[in-house]
Amino acid sequence: MPDTIHAVSFSPAGKTKKVVSHFANLLGEALALPVKEDSFTLPAERERVRSYGEDDLVVFGVPTYAGRIPNKALPFVQELFRAECTKTVAIVTFGNRSFDNALAELVYELKNNGFHVIGAAAVVCAHSFAQIGTGRPDANDRKLLAELAKSVADTLKDDTLKKGHTAEAPSLHVPGGEPPWEYYQPHGIDGEKTVFLKAKPVVDPALCDRCGICAAACPMGSIPSDAPDTTTGICIKCQACVKLCPHAARSFDDAAYLSHKAMLEQTFSRPAVTQIFSLQTSA
Ligand SMILES: Cc1cc2nc3c(=O)[nH]c(=O)nc-3n(C[C@H](O)[C@H](O)[C@H](O)COP(=O)(O)O)c2cc1C
Repeated sequence: MPDTIHAVSFSPAGKTKKVVSHFANLLGEALALPVKEDSFTLPAERERVRSYGEDDLVVFGVPTYAGRIPNKALPFVQELFRAECTKTVAIVTFGNRSFDNALAELVYELKNNGFHVIGAAAVVCAHSFAQIGTGRPDANDRKLLAELAKSVADTLKDDTLKKGHTAEAPSLHVPGGEPPWEYYQPHGIDGEKTVFLKAKPVVDPALCDRCGICAAACPMGSIPSDAPDTTTGICIKCQACVKLCPHAARSFDDAAYLSHKAMLEQTFSRPAVTQIFSLQTSA
């Protein structure tokens, strides 16, 4: 039985961190184990490699971007985390459209790093930039997470898993197929394909007081602290700077991006479904 739960997340706009933390605390209560929070969202948090052993239990979460692990976060998932038979729960959040291949990709990458994935979830959250999924996760989503925590806790208590990651250890199946995975292709309100990879937030100089909150929050380190009214590096459209600006000085005016946002709001307003997977349900 592990002695520590690690709640690990990449969470630019904060939803994934909240879900991972909530779930890790449910597990902590069920197993009477302490929870340690760990983030790899910011550049300074990505300067060390984490190694886990059999005494650790990891809850690992990332958001879905274009149906997969965010492409700029994928190298961090691949390079910063090492495990030896460490039992793990993989969580992706998604903004009410679809998680497509994100959960399958996360389970695949974690297995490659030596983790033994014994539970997984795809959890609906408010979309980072479209007005869909608002109010999620809700009471029903939390009920599903509680069910998963119970199932994972029961699995951990199960003697058959004491062997660890051996040929006999059961493995978890989640939807999403096998690599190579495609990224979701965004469309505009007219149904045509849109490209807004180069879009960056614009800054209203009348509102920006150069406080630097946005610079400190940018997961790509793309906003210089001495010039926070600019965005000089890569922008992943995560909305951290937009949401945290106390003066609403940052916004996106890119036409293709706004057309995709409008399409999402028109097409994906129905409530999407949170899904949970455990060895007990998928074996
Ligand atoms: C660039 C980008 C792409 C996204 N792509 C998807 C997607 O393919 N499907 C979906 O349902 N939500 C998508 N979302 C919404 C996020 O997955 C969701 O809001 C997530 O909970 C955000 O996590 P965070 O708050 O931890 O950053 C996307 C968000 C961003 C910023």
